[in-house]
Amino acid sequence: MSPVWQPPKNYRNRPVAVLGAGVLGRRIATDNCFTGCIWASAGYNVTIRDPSAQQRLDGIAYINENVKSYAQNTGQAPGTAAAFENVADAVADAWLVIEAVPEKITLKIDTFAELAVVAPDDCILASNSSSYKTSEMLEKVPAITKPRILNMHYYMPPQCMIVELMTDGFTTEGIFPFLAERSKEAATLPYIARKESTGFIFNRLWAAVKREALTILAEEVSVPEEIDSMWAEMFIKGRATPCKMMDGVGLDTVAFIESHYIKERGLSSAKTVDFLQKNYLDHGKLGLKSSDGGLYPPVQEHSNGPRVLVLDIGLSTAPPSMNSGEILEYTADGKFERVLFQSQAMPDGLAVDPASKRMFWTNMGIPGKNDGAVYSANLDGTDIYTVIAPGRINTPKQLTLDLVAKKVYFCDREGCRVYRCGFDGSNLETLISNCKANEGAEDWCVGIAVARNLGKFYWTQKGPSKGGKGRIFCANIKTPLGQDAASRTDVQCILGGLPEPIDLEVDEVSKLLYWTDRGEIPFGNSLNRIQLDEYGRPLTGSASAKPEILTRHLKEAIGLKLDTERGHIYLTDLGGNIYRCDLDGRRKEKIFSDDCRAFTGIAVL
Ligand SMILES: *[C@@H]1O[C@H](CO)[C@@H](O)[C@H](O)[C@H]1NC(C)=O
Ligand SMILES: *[C@@H]1O[C@H](CO)[C@@H](O)[C@H](O)[C@H]1NC(C)=O
Repeated sequence: MSPVWQPPKNYRNRPVAVLGAGVLGRRIATDNCFTGCIWASAGYNVTIRDPSAQQRLDGIAYINENVKSYAQNTGQAPGTAAAFENVADAVADAWLVIEAVPEKITLKIDTFAELAVVAPDDCILASNSSSYKTSEMLEKVPAITKPRILNMHYYMPPQCMIVELMTDGFTTEGIFPFLAERSKEAATLPYIARKESTGFIFNRLWAAVKREALTILAEEVSVPEEIDSMWAEMFIKGRATPCKMMDGVGLDTVAFIESHYIKERGLSSAKTVDFLQKNYLDHGKLGLKSSDGGLYPPVQEHSNGPRVLVLDIGLSTAPPSMNSGEILEYTADGKFERVLFQSQAMPDGLAVDPASKRMFWTNMGIPGKNDGAVYSANLDGTDIYTVIAPGRINTPKQLTLDLVAKKVYFCDREGCRVYRCGFDGSNLETLISNCKANEGAEDWCVGIAVARNLGKFYWTQKGPSKGGKGRIFCANIKTPLGQDAASRTDVQCILGGLPEPIDLEVDEVSKLLYWTDRGEIPFGNSLNRIQLDEYGRPLTGSASAKPEILTRHLKEAIGLKLDTERGHIYLTDLGGNIYRCDLDGRRKEKIFSDDCRAFTGIAVL
């Protein structure tokens, strides 16, 4: 093998082979098919090898049946699946072989010996073993083959799409970034163990948790129900993560507490207290309370003004796809800072909760399908959390937050509904439902705003594209007693005949309702507002009772965010522009523009 590793030649047009279990029966055969599906969904042809004829048939059937649903996450045309009885046939042209034969070390050793002979000599050879390291499987493998062998361990697809990559001690460096990229194309989440380690990364964490949970039970200190309930409060509801939590607690405190256990249990301090002392405490790195940080580097405060987060729906990328949406960060002057998230399925609505420092966004998915979703994450792009998983809502659009009640509000366009739920996705309520036999664009709900002090929420129903049939509605935050989405009597249409209203924002202090309009010029592709009365309805009878056009000439206007503190409005359009103007629409500036982007939701930090 030459010192500079080259990816397998022409790998895009070569299959991925999964070597199956045969004797161990159906469950494992199905597991192979998950792995097969993962790779087929990324557009690779997949071969599976299984000694059992029945399982070969079942495997192919499973992949053919399921690959399309996997491929929704990759945006690729799926590859084909074929099954073989012999290893040599299955791997003949493969660029990647994933071994998942039964967990018997002699069988693994023989499998790698055979692969070294029959697989192409640039083929990457991976083991999905969770109990053995690949270094234990190299006995009969020639030295020249060892650099292209590694562990590639899937957890439990399709529920958990994590895959861990780990060296066999000889694995050539270049394989890791290459396979990580390919894994991302297959919509899996790759993590690379920096060294060989029994149990990889995640299984070690899990091992520690199991060990202590069992010890607590063995000592009769608690019971399973209560252990699980405490865990759920802390780590699921509270969404704590171990390293951040240690930084929060303070590494000095962590070391102090750990030294108690060390004494009581006669443990070694080498990899806990001594490690912390030498690498962190001695350098004044105590966690969040230190300017030098802790396990994490210190949090950077932004000094030069607000930050703008923007969603790129992904439809102007080359090639366009339903899964190349991104969340981007810019300075308030439109200087690009960084990509926070990629591979989003048509993101549309975005809002930020300053208290918890988290952002919330909607992914529309494929309009008309029940695959829309809502997510949240830290403002630095870490700790993504699924608020509403795909499968419950259709095409979620603008999203807004009630920061006091800690509620997320969002519209569902093709679903013809307005929803509300907790920040964690709990209590999903349908507030408005326009579902009837022939829903059309006039029933589509798009923009949403909540005015807590006025007790109202507002939404747009945009009507047909550029159709001049757009409307804005309002209803009470408190659903009238005994009524529901279908029967509520407090819904009011406050504006009608608009070109095509899209996103909404409300300034509760000045009682002004703002909206973008994507309709036909001269009145569409504009920013508009109207004065509200003390009940949150448009004023009647005065000059300010009519909507006011604040600015025009947007290129398919969508996103809208008020920054009343600094007297600014931010706007986006599908033409790839971000604008900033004053609250009255004057001094409009295009602060960023890129033809290869198509912006939707926007938020200001
Ligand atoms: C997959 O196999 C089909 C049929 O054998 C072939 O036409 C196609 O080019 C292959 N695709 C890839 C990506 O290898
Ligand atoms: C890989 O290992 C995991 C866990 O050990 C298992 O759930 C999965 O089914 C295995 N995959 C294959 C293809 O055997």
